[in-house]
Order: sequence, then C-alpha cells, then structure tokens
Amino acid sequence: MAKLQAIRGMNDILPDQTPNWQYLEKCFQEVVHRYGYREIRFPVLEQTQLFKRSIGEVTDIVEKEMYSFDDRNGDNLSLRPEGTAGCVRAADQHGLLFNQQQRLWYQGPMFRHERPQKGRYRQFQQFGVEAFGMAGPDIDAEIIQLSASLWNDLQLSDYLTLEINNIGAAEDRKRYAAALTAFLFSHADELDDDARNRMHSNPMRVLDSKNPDVQVLLKNAPALLDYVSEDSTEHYSTLKALLEQVGISFIENPRLVRGLDYYNNCVFEWTTDSLGAQGTVCGGGRYDGLVEQLGGKPTVAAGFAMGVERLVLMLDSLGKIPPSTAQVIDVYMLVVGKELTAASQLLAKQLRERFPALRLVAHCGGGKYNNQLKRAYNSGAEVAIVLESEPGEVLETVKIRRLDDSAEFVSVELAKTADKLGEILSIS
Ligand code: HAM
Repeated sequence: MAKLQAIRGMNDILPDQTPNWQYLEKCFQEVVHRYGYREIRFPVLEQTQLFKRSIGEVTDIVEKEMYSFDDRNGDNLSLRPEGTAGCVRAADQHGLLFNQQQRLWYQGPMFRHERPQKGRYRQFQQFGVEAFGMAGPDIDAEIIQLSASLWNDLQLSDYLTLEINNIGAAEDRKRYAAALTAFLFSHADELDDDARNRMHSNPMRVLDSKNPDVQVLLKNAPALLDYVSEDSTEHYSTLKALLEQVGISFIENPRLVRGLDYYNNCVFEWTTDSLGAQGTVCGGGRYDGLVEQLGGKPTVAAGFAMGVERLVLMLDSLGKIPPSTAQVIDVYMLVVGKELTAASQLLAKQLRERFPALRLVAHCGGGKYNNQLKRAYNSGAEVAIVLESEPGEVLETVKIRRLDDSAEFVSVELAKTADKLGEILSIS
C-alpha cells in the first residue's frame, strides 16, 4: 500500500529544525513582553462569514485561498487564513475592547491554499500583534518599533527594509474608489476579464493587476494620494517624524496597498531581498473600521503579522541562528539486564529530581552493552552511567564516566551516584 504523505504545502518541522523555531519563538516572546503585550489564543476554525466580512469578499484570500467546508451541522467554517479577524472576534466577544486599550499578541498556524514555493506554504506560522483603542500615530510607531526590536535581537536589521504608505481614511477610500471606478468604466474595453470583474466588485484590486497592459493604462488613473484627507496626511506625517526620531529608516511606497480590505491610513511591510520572490516577512497597519464592521462598538486598531517560516529561512541562510544546546543530552544511562528496569527508572527519577536542569536519557528496550554504549555516544551525552548485574544479584554499584576517550569507568556505590555525577558535571 502506498505510504501517506503530508498535504502539499504543509510542512513537518523535524527535531533537527525545532530548536531554530524555539529560538525565534523565544526572541519574539521576549520582545512582546518588553513592550507590555499580552498573549491571546483563539481557534484555528471560525465561521467563514468572519473572514468574508473582515478580509473582504473580493480578495485573493477569500476568493481563492480559504480552506472552507460545511461541518456536520451544515455550518460553513474555514481554517483561519490570518489572525486579525479571529483576534477581533475573540476580543470583542469577551468584552475586551469597548472603552479599553489592549495590547495583544498571538502565534499559530494559518492556512491559505496558495501555490506552494519557497517561503510560501499552505499551512504557515505567524507571530502577530494587535493593539486596540489607540487612535494616534504613536501606537503605529510603537508596533513598528516593536518589530524593529525583534530584527535587532535576531541580527536581521541590516537585511530588512521598512516600506510604508498612507492609504487614507475609509471615507477617502470610498471617494477614491468612485473616481477609480469611473475611470475604469471609461476604459472598460482596454481591461482584461479579471480587471473588468474587479472594476465592479472591488476597483482598488485592479491596481494589483499583473497584466502589463492594464498597468500602462493605470498610469493615467486617478491617484489615491489626491483623495487622502488632511487628517490622514497629518497622522502619516507624524508617524514618519516619530520613526525618524527613534532612528527607524523607511521608504515610502505609494504602491503598497496590502491584500486585505480592512486597512486604513498607515500600512507597512518589512521586506528582504535575501528570500527570492517571497520577500515580505511582516505586514500590517491600521484597521480602525474593522471592529465595528464585525458588529462591535467603534474601536480603533493597528497591528501586524510576520511569517515565521520566512524568518527561519532568513536566519538559516544568513547563518544567524546561534548554536543550540537544546538537543544536547547530559547523561545516557545504560541498563544491561532486564531485572534492572525498576532500579534504573528509580535512579533516573532520583537524579532528575536532584538536578532539575539535567537532561538524562535512561535506556529502554534492552540490548547488549556494546549496542547501548554506541547509542550513548550517538546521543552526544557527556556522561554515561552503566547499570549492570548478574542474574539474581542485587545492584549495589554503578559505573560512571565521561564519554570522552581518555576517561575510564569508575565504580560508585548506587546511593552515591548523584554526588559523583554532580562532581563530574560540576553541578550541585
Ligand atoms: P499578511 O500580509 O497576509 O497579513 O501576512 C503577514 C505575513 O505572513 C506575510 O508578510 C508573510 O510573511 C506571512 N505569510 C503570508 N502568507 C504566507 C504563506 N502562504 N506562506 C508563508 N508565509 C506567509 C496578515 O495576515 C494580517 N493579518 C497582518 C495584520 C495583523 N494586519 C493587522 N494586524
């Protein structure tokens, strides 16, 4: 029978790689902790409506990429393609938003049925932050600074560029969409089918067209910048000044629109050219209308999410992951003889209790002394302890030694094993 394989675009992260992930998780958690953010966890499965109403019906994610299905009750559910919608739903449902400020973070798997390639997967991991109830550009600057702190800790600052843009307030965007629609209508016969469809449903998405002919036409289209209100421009200018003051450089990219509909005012992305095509490692911005759009009281908000796989790839290719000790075992205990099982488990328990930081593997599954010793070497353990006795004999002593070639086994009374081990490893 053919062996079953993982689903395309969904990766297994094997024990050799997990230390890299743990390193990143630790760094991210340290940074959000320093900034006073608190963790929130919410389900991977939600009503499909939640994503349609937040990300937008006419977006690539909702139109083509969601894993949606009817469950046994006939409810249409989707695996979350991103975290913001679920975070807002959870925070509002539990009364965390109205008249309050919240600084939240999350991490977890997201699901998008995209065409897999390096840095783009169907199940991928995000770290995200969402800040609620703060209207000014100070919070925008804070979350950008938070991301920059992580790059600094990971030694990635030199390889990442911050791109920012002001996409205007919701009303500005409405006025702009009307002007853009009028322009597109008057050039309908020069558009391709995709652009013609989007012209009706979501004219701004036409701006993302990959068709060079459409892009040439768009050069004469109305510019969003001309529709952005004074308030929005002022907010954006203050953000830029704040970033300059804290020493974060950026480039302004008027084409940066983001692929989700809930944004307004400032949006941003951190990009790198060290990853090939999938160069965006982090993206976010303000989304002041989303909470209300999902049925909550008006609550301003801003946030971002970063792709963990892309960060791991970057750290790996740039050699920025510190050598890990997570895999190293301190002690391998050989157990030669079936009748020693209980004695070995008891001794292992005592040693682990005495030295809580010790990583001790007690051999299981029997086998000859030589084979067990080979396993001890292969495990990378620093010390081997050997329990061995003749049938019927009571175990009174164990043998112990460092696993470097120069050392010899010494015999120790069973009751003194912990003291001897402490001496060898210089731990108490
Ligand atoms: P997003 O730009 O769709 O934004 O995703 C954020 C990051 O997730 C991307 O920059 C990328 O690093 C990673 N990512 C996205 N899709 C994939 C994929 N298929 N494979 C690997 N990595 C991927 C959001 O998700 C928004 N919720 C961000 C946000 C939070 N805005 C406000 N708050």
